[in-house]
Amino acid sequence: MALLRTFLIFAAASGLQRVFASLNDSFTGAGVRAVFPGDGNYASASAAYNLRFTLEPAAVAYPSTPEEVSAIIQAGIDNNLQVVARGGGHSYVANGLGGKNGSLVIDMSSMKNIAVDSSSNTAIIETGNRLGDVALALNAAGRAMPHGTCSYVGIGGHSSFGGYGFTSRQWGLALDTIFAINAVLANGTIVRASEDSYPDLFWALKGAAPSFAITTSIEVNTYPAPSYAIVMEYTWSNMDYEIAAKSMYSFQNFSLAGPASPFSGELVITKGSQEGQVTFGFTGAWYGQKGSAVPTLQSWLDTMPTPTSSSLVGDGSYIDTVAQLSGKNLNTTQAADSTDTFYAKSLMTPEGDPMSFEACSAFMQYLATEGFSSNTNWFVEVELYGGPNSKIREIPNNATAFSRRDTLFTFQLYASSSNSLPPFPEEGFTFVDDMANSITSNMPATWNYGAYTNYIDDQLENWQTLYFNDNYPRLQSLKAQLDPNNVFMFPTSIKE
Ligand SMILES: Cc1cc2nc3c(=O)[nH]c(=O)nc-3n(C[C@H](O)[C@H](O)[C@H](O)COP(=O)(O)OP(=O)(O)OC[C@H]3O[C@@H](n4cnc5c(N)ncnc54)[C@H](O)[C@@H]3O)c2cc1C
Ligand SMILES: *[C@@H]1O[C@H](CO)[C@@H](O)[C@H](O)[C@H]1NC(C)=O
Ligand SMILES: *[C@@H]1O[C@H](CO)[C@@H](O)[C@H](O)[C@H]1NC(C)=O
Ligand SMILES: *[C@@H]1O[C@H](CO)[C@@H](O)[C@H](O)[C@H]1NC(C)=O
Ligand SMILES: *[C@@H]1O[C@H](CO)[C@@H](O)[C@H](O)[C@H]1NC(C)=O
Ligand SMILES: *[C@@H]1O[C@H](CO)[C@@H](O)[C@H](O)[C@H]1NC(C)=O
Ligand SMILES: *[C@@H]1O[C@H](CO)[C@@H](O)[C@H](O)[C@H]1NC(C)=O
Repeated sequence: MALLRTFLIFAAASGLQRVFASLNDSFTGAGVRAVFPGDGNYASASAAYNLRFTLEPAAVAYPSTPEEVSAIIQAGIDNNLQVVARGGGHSYVANGLGGKNGSLVIDMSSMKNIAVDSSSNTAIIETGNRLGDVALALNAAGRAMPHGTCSYVGIGGHSSFGGYGFTSRQWGLALDTIFAINAVLANGTIVRASEDSYPDLFWALKGAAPSFAITTSIEVNTYPAPSYAIVMEYTWSNMDYEIAAKSMYSFQNFSLAGPASPFSGELVITKGSQEGQVTFGFTGAWYGQKGSAVPTLQSWLDTMPTPTSSSLVGDGSYIDTVAQLSGKNLNTTQAADSTDTFYAKSLMTPEGDPMSFEACSAFMQYLATEGFSSNTNWFVEVELYGGPNSKIREIPNNATAFSRRDTLFTFQLYASSSNSLPPFPEEGFTFVDDMANSITSNMPATWNYGAYTNYIDDQLENWQTLYFNDNYPRLQSLKAQLDPNNVFMFPTSIKE
């Protein structure tokens, strides 16, 4: 508080003081804890996961109820501030802090309730939860839902934009389990959106939530935790790029043939130890009958050289695969979150128009040459979304705001600074952009590829189409109705 007062004396002439005092009055009146610039804990309250971003929000407020969220939004409107929610804070471009300076941040971390209803097999999950804690709470009731691997990712952002994990071919994206969303609108109104109530809003929230509301809880259908589950790991160290290109192409071929839906996985490509090589890996999981994991993959393995190493990992229980894939504690209250300094982007390949061999080859050659000399730590993941048996694609592209369901692979292209600390090297941007370009420039100009909103990219041109494709015009008209004053605005928010 002493620090804050000093700061406020400095800021007195600027009008900022008036804003802080007004916010402080509103928050005090509503019983909401908040952190302001100048407070001793402001730096930690406003720190981004990606240290490439240092942003200065107007304040970070910590509500405990939807009514408090509403009061904070109202205080933001009264002070002409743009308002943003932060869930787990894992946005790649610090959009949970507004993606720019001066936003009013609503940090959801005090809203962590999870209520599992065993009679209906549904759960109400407050949006301050992280994925690991969600998995533990559902598993304690013998239930599960699809979601990504990192236990520290917030369910708030994750389920707003999709939410892919290795159960997604069987169960869909995290957002596909949602049948109702409790949310606070840009005018402070508290609503419960579903197919019957605020159906347009519900449609928009499932794929573009942060542009339309602050969600306070999601109501989801759960699945029985699979009775058998196992993780598969294969590594081919230092593979010549020509072989790596053939390996990726034959994985595409295998994927197009449609492995059974309890199967999913990703290729993981990292730097090789010599120019011209990459290290090629596969990590997958199986949620079906015991003994069928490797047979499901066998027709692809038959096309591959002998791996350097391979293993089945896990004790056969579902929750153990979640822990194995996370590589971290599932209980996120037991250890601190990490950070990184990175630039990442994504590329979603259309299942109906798969990559040519030339594109696979150019990509691997690029990784084996430019990737060999890059001063970044990089990796590529090629995640299997599609194939004829995938639940993700059973839902039409226009059924929710998430528009890229006919995706075969989602590439994640990711480079960190060499020590994971700032600064991120300038050449790292073109290095990662050209990974994607090596594929797209070897495909027809009309290739209808996309990008994934949960791997949000601050350098992407044409993001409206890449992220939202044919759904963008409807999102724009809903934005005009539901948030005409652009209260929820950040670099990649829907623009009227
Ligand atoms: C280590 C790591 C691993 C990952 N693994 C996967 C994976 O396996 N699969 C996958 O699909 N994705 C994965 N992701 C991406 C992840 O899904 C996104 O970064 C996600 O958006 C993060 O959500 P968050 O709540 O943690 O982030 P935040 O930064 O808090 O939020 C992200 C965005 O969502 C908005 N938002 C958050 N909460 C709310 C809310 N309650 N109401 C409205 N808007 C809200 C924010 O304003 C922001 O725009 C991974 C990310 C990291 C860093
Ligand atoms: C915020 O309001 C409280 C209660 O009115 C007051 O004690 C505190 O000094 C105020 N802080 C600032 C920064 O104005
Ligand atoms: C935010 O403000 C800080 C401090 O003034 C500045 O260093 C940073 O560049 C600003 N960021 C943006 C995106 O404007
Ligand atoms: C592609 O898959 C088919 C079966 O679906 C198989 O017969 C063929 O050999 C595969 N080709 C490659 C290059 O892997
Ligand atoms: C997570 O750890 C905390 C602290 O040890 C504990 O209180 C909590 O019960 C744990 N949660 C679960 C779901 O195990
Ligand atoms: C999706 O598109 C189909 C075919 O054009 C149309 O019949 C349907 O009404 C659309 N659904 C929504 C939710 O817009
Ligand atoms: C707030 O916005 C919603 C959606 O546009 C609308 O239904 C509601 O009437 C508005 N409430 C007020 C108080 O203006």
